[in-house]
Amino acid sequence: MTDEHSHLPAEPGNDDASAPDTSLVPDEPIVNPGLPEHAWRPTDVDPKAERRAERQVATLFGLSAVCAVLFVVSYLVFDVNGGGDGETVQTVFGLGASNVALGVSLGLALMFIGIGLIQWARKLMGDHEIVEMRHPARSSDEDRTETVRVLNLGAEESGIARRPLVRNSLLLSVGVLLAPVVVLLKDLGKTNAEVIDEAAYPGAGLEHTVWTSGMRVVRDVVGTPIRPGDLEIGDLINAEPEIIFEVDEDGEHVLEGVHLQIAKSKAAVVLIRMDPDENKPAKGREDWAVDGILCYSKICTHVGCPISLNERKTHHLLCPCHQSTFDLADAAKVVFGPAARPLPQLPLMVNDEGYLVAQSDFKEPVGPSYWERDSQQSTSK
Ligand code: FES
Repeated sequence: MTDEHSHLPAEPGNDDASAPDTSLVPDEPIVNPGLPEHAWRPTDVDPKAERRAERQVATLFGLSAVCAVLFVVSYLVFDVNGGGDGETVQTVFGLGASNVALGVSLGLALMFIGIGLIQWARKLMGDHEIVEMRHPARSSDEDRTETVRVLNLGAEESGIARRPLVRNSLLLSVGVLLAPVVVLLKDLGKTNAEVIDEAAYPGAGLEHTVWTSGMRVVRDVVGTPIRPGDLEIGDLINAEPEIIFEVDEDGEHVLEGVHLQIAKSKAAVVLIRMDPDENKPAKGREDWAVDGILCYSKICTHVGCPISLNERKTHHLLCPCHQSTFDLADAAKVVFGPAARPLPQLPLMVNDEGYLVAQSDFKEPVGPSYWERDSQQSTSK
């Protein structure tokens, strides 16, 4: 049974469960216990302890600066790409040495600066109990003036002006902490070709893909080559290049691991077959299709999503990310959405064995726009 008034469940064995229990109601209002007596910290009363704490804080800020420098050194010393010539990536406990060094050094830099700030606040900043009464949301002008006064007082009591050692070491650690940010900016604008030797890894840069003349177009995942007769009108399939590189006496690299995945992902394409009469080839592309089969980059030119939502009747290809729509019958021009340029087209032909192959690489960079893209003199291979 439940007490109707108090909404509390009845105690087991309580016969008079409907009567409220008044024993818990105090007769008098609870008296404000006030603040406990203030306890002074060692650093408040002992100048030696104060100086010790000051040195401790400065040491923590100094360690933070050292770790930030180690971050920069790690960035320059460890090669994320394993030397770019097929060497294996250096590892520590099974993890990439570069990632470990960068993560540990930056983590320690942030940790030391954080601990230093906490110690500064706990041991050296002003230590007063403050009672603040509730008041309307908008502060009065007097309160605002008082806030400014308290902030100034806080700055004064933090000792930032009086303690040049702490202040300067903090400024040093925060300043050096900017170095990792600046160093990482170095990667902006650098093309993959500069990071990875494009001669050693074909198609590594932004300007080219791995497609070369005569390279077979194969179904993605299964890797089977494709004959024109394999596609019905209206069909669209995902495809990729059949990447075969031999190691010759000059030591040409075999694409494998992450380099192979990069090459394949950049070179991903869609094949679509339509009635040849529906195709409106752009000038100079009259011989890029085979029996109404056209091949376009699968990477959206907006921000690079893989794209393959096909509207069979209209030949429109829709990007699922932001709905850019390309007309595959009209040189993949943009008919809707934020993409700024058509999908690059791969010229097709048929080889002696009757399989679809590329005539060359794409004639323009695939993927999203990037600065200087339009000034690149992209050439076929
Ligand atoms: S990535 Fe395709 S529309 Fe944005």
